[in-house]
Amino acid sequence: MTQNGQSIVLVVGATGNVGRNVVQQLTEHGVRVRAASRSPKTAKGLPEAELVRVNLEEAETLRAAAEGADAAFLMVRGFTVRPETMTEALRGRVKRIVFLSSMAVDDNAPVQTNPIGKAHVEIEEAIRATGAEWTFLRPGAFATNTLTWWGPQLRAGDVVRWPYGEAAWASIHEADIAAVAVRALTEDGHAGKKYVLTGGEALTQKEQLHRIGEAIGRTLRFEELAPEAAREQMKAYLPEFVVDRLLPMWERAMIERALVTRTVEEVTGKAPRTFWQWAMDHANEF
Ligand SMILES: NC(=O)c1ccc[n+]([C@@H]2O[C@H](COP(=O)([O-])OP(=O)(O)OC[C@H]3O[C@@H](n4cnc5c(N)ncnc54)[C@H](OP(=O)(O)O)[C@@H]3O)[C@@H](O)[C@H]2O)c1
Repeated sequence: MTQNGQSIVLVVGATGNVGRNVVQQLTEHGVRVRAASRSPKTAKGLPEAELVRVNLEEAETLRAAAEGADAAFLMVRGFTVRPETMTEALRGRVKRIVFLSSMAVDDNAPVQTNPIGKAHVEIEEAIRATGAEWTFLRPGAFATNTLTWWGPQLRAGDVVRWPYGEAAWASIHEADIAAVAVRALTEDGHAGKKYVLTGGEALTQKEQLHRIGEAIGRTLRFEELAPEAAREQMKAYLPEFVVDRLLPMWERAMIERALVTRTVEEVTGKAPRTFWQWAMDHANEF
């Protein structure tokens, strides 16, 4: 299962926010990486990795990429592929699967009523059925969401029109999710673990915007947008079922105390990066 005596880790979504960091950190650890993209020929910034073509909608591409790999980092976008189609391609090939799941999965619920949780739990169940060692990473909101949501407005001006400015959560830096993934991919002791991951401090959306302003050296203003107007705006870049879930969640996040876990530090030995650090790391993208 190794090439030249070195173990190989397949990273699905290697050009993405988390995957790119997984590739980089595995490479820094001296691990041989097979980085998967739908367009490996044009994939940029993955110099040390072997690039392979994987489209999760074409199971044979995943099967071929998993051949000879010891472990796989799996992430899924869009949730259009039957979970078993993906996991059958990995079954009997990789010994270990680390899956980028979601905090939306509720282990205490008999049925997942949250469609985001349901989409992820179905993949988790299919992974368990492969018999491979598994670790599920269940992060809450990514800090990088702000780049998707607010980036276009901030590249055009200093005002973000957005709903629920006082809603707070502890956004996580994608590099911290990757750091946990790397531990689970390369060390023993993480099999069967479900890691609920957050950043270290809860910030309101207004505070997050303020941190971004500090990082990019501009005075930014949050202008409260009515939820219905926001719904239309968000549908441009998020599936409707996600928008339907996010808006009520943010409404609750105006009054509920945000969950902050210590899992990143417990697993990696390092405190999670702050939102300000995240904003500094991405300052030139705003
Ligand atoms: N955003 C959040 O707040 C949040 C919270 C909890 C969990 N999550 C989980 O994290 C995931 C997003 O992670 P991310 O931000 O790292 O992803 P991302 O940056 O949006 O995308 C990752 C990569 O997936 C690849 N991809 C897309 N469709 C594919 C397909 N059909 N087959 C193979 N590869 C495909 C793309 O690479 P190529 O174009 O190179 O193929 C893309 O670069 C969500 O789907 C969810 O499961 C997100």
